[in-house]
Amino acid sequence: MEAVEPLWDSEAAAAACAGHSSGRWQAHDVSIDSRSITRGALFVAIRGDSGDGHAYVADALKKGAAAAMVDHVPEGVAQEAPLLMVRDTQAALEALGAAARARSAARIVAVTGSAGKTGTKEMLRAAFARQGMTHASQASYNNQWGVPLSLARMPRETQFGVFEIGMNHAGEITPLTKIVRPHAAIVTTIAPAHIGNFESLTAIAEAKAEIFSGLTPGGVAVINQDNPFFDLLARRSREAGAGRIVGFGASPAAEARLVKAVHHAECSCVLAEICGQPLTCKIGLAGNHWTMNALAVLAVVQALGADMALAALALAELKPLAGRGRRHRLHIADGVFTLIDESYNANPASMLAALNNLSGHVTEGRGRRIAVLGDMAELGEEAKNYHRDLAGAIADSRIHLTFTAGREMQILHDNLPRELRGTHSADSAGLVTPLWETLRPGDVVMVKGSNSSNMGKIIKDLLALGDADLQINTMKSA
Ligand SMILES: Nc1ncnc2c1ncn2[C@@H]1O[C@H](COP(=O)(O)OP(=O)(O)O)[C@@H](O)[C@H]1O
Ligand SMILES: [Mg+2]
Repeated sequence: MEAVEPLWDSEAAAAACAGHSSGRWQAHDVSIDSRSITRGALFVAIRGDSGDGHAYVADALKKGAAAAMVDHVPEGVAQEAPLLMVRDTQAALEALGAAARARSAARIVAVTGSAGKTGTKEMLRAAFARQGMTHASQASYNNQWGVPLSLARMPRETQFGVFEIGMNHAGEITPLTKIVRPHAAIVTTIAPAHIGNFESLTAIAEAKAEIFSGLTPGGVAVINQDNPFFDLLARRSREAGAGRIVGFGASPAAEARLVKAVHHAECSCVLAEICGQPLTCKIGLAGNHWTMNALAVLAVVQALGADMALAALALAELKPLAGRGRRHRLHIADGVFTLIDESYNANPASMLAALNNLSGHVTEGRGRRIAVLGDMAELGEEAKNYHRDLAGAIADSRIHLTFTAGREMQILHDNLPRELRGTHSADSAGLVTPLWETLRPGDVVMVKGSNSSNMGKIIKDLLALGDADLQINTMKSA
């Protein structure tokens, strides 16, 4: 059998983070969570929100970890255990990530934005995987732990690396993008997310613009040209030394431009012009926002000299991620209804995108379009306005009925035209029965809210009640 080169051996890891290895070991993965650690991984003991990883070193080793990175020998761990002793495990994880980046010849892309980071990252993964060895961040691993961890996990042989970078506060993206050092950086959109932590949308745009400070010299900035902050972001990218700026969107000025899109329930058909090259393709995710994100993906593919046709084929085969548009067909008494699971998260931009998508949905028979909405979190002082403003959007849409859950959503309920008002409940659990009793064949139900609003509970319960899921499209979650 061909020998697989380890991701890290004891010498390389010790050298990368100026640490000291006891014993010789080889690791095939890196992990900061002993619950999900795989055999042969290097466990890094991080001091995080949910405690000190040093308390889980013994457990990780018992589960087959190749070694553990620590700043002291934790109680219950043998002195002769395979350990990588460092001064500060957080700094050492960053150093390990930086070393993985330094030894890599991969083309690197970083993705940030107020919405669509994970989806766009997964689109890039799919587009590149068709043409070379591709490594991408897992799930939404986009913060001070997730980014260095994702880098540290990047195999030497990687040809395309894709990293999601997120933030809750100004200044958080700068250190992350400086270790990722992307050849291309995407800002999907600027919108009110975590705005409770910011003075204004402009402040959010400035914080997202930090991503350009890590660009390799002459790197490519890929920016949403339909967004009012395009000029600001373009200026910041130029100041940071970007060699090229590619705008994407429907704007006639965009280099990666949407010419025409036809939106269907499960996909979109798109005619685009990507940096002078006409392209017709199908996007396997429904909704205008995914079409726009796909333009950013195609712009990156073009800018990095990868194959556009292979990328377009991959985009056609995409399936919605759990909680971000996955669809189910479920049984009720005398028929079938459609459930759209958008329960993963929500902010005003993604809420409008999802409402817009539902509004365009074709129903069957006497079916109605029903929105089931939970609170949008972290909107600060403006929270009430953002929730109230949804009433106008819903009144102008083709949505027939809106159920609401949570404290913030009360104001939306109160402001909806009476005939569009469904049940309001203090929490998501309280909506399940009234919703189930309202449903009839042909209905299309879209469920969305911030993670903390626990709208996933409604999805789970409806899936159980609607027993046989006819599964229009499902895919492993990421
Ligand atoms: N460009 C966009 N504008 C508005 N909403 C979007 C956009 N792209 C994706 N979304 C929506 O944002 C939500 C979160 O998507 P996700 O890819 O997980 O983003 P993030 O990683 O930034 O949180 C989903 O509901 C998705 O449909
Ligand atoms: Mg994400």
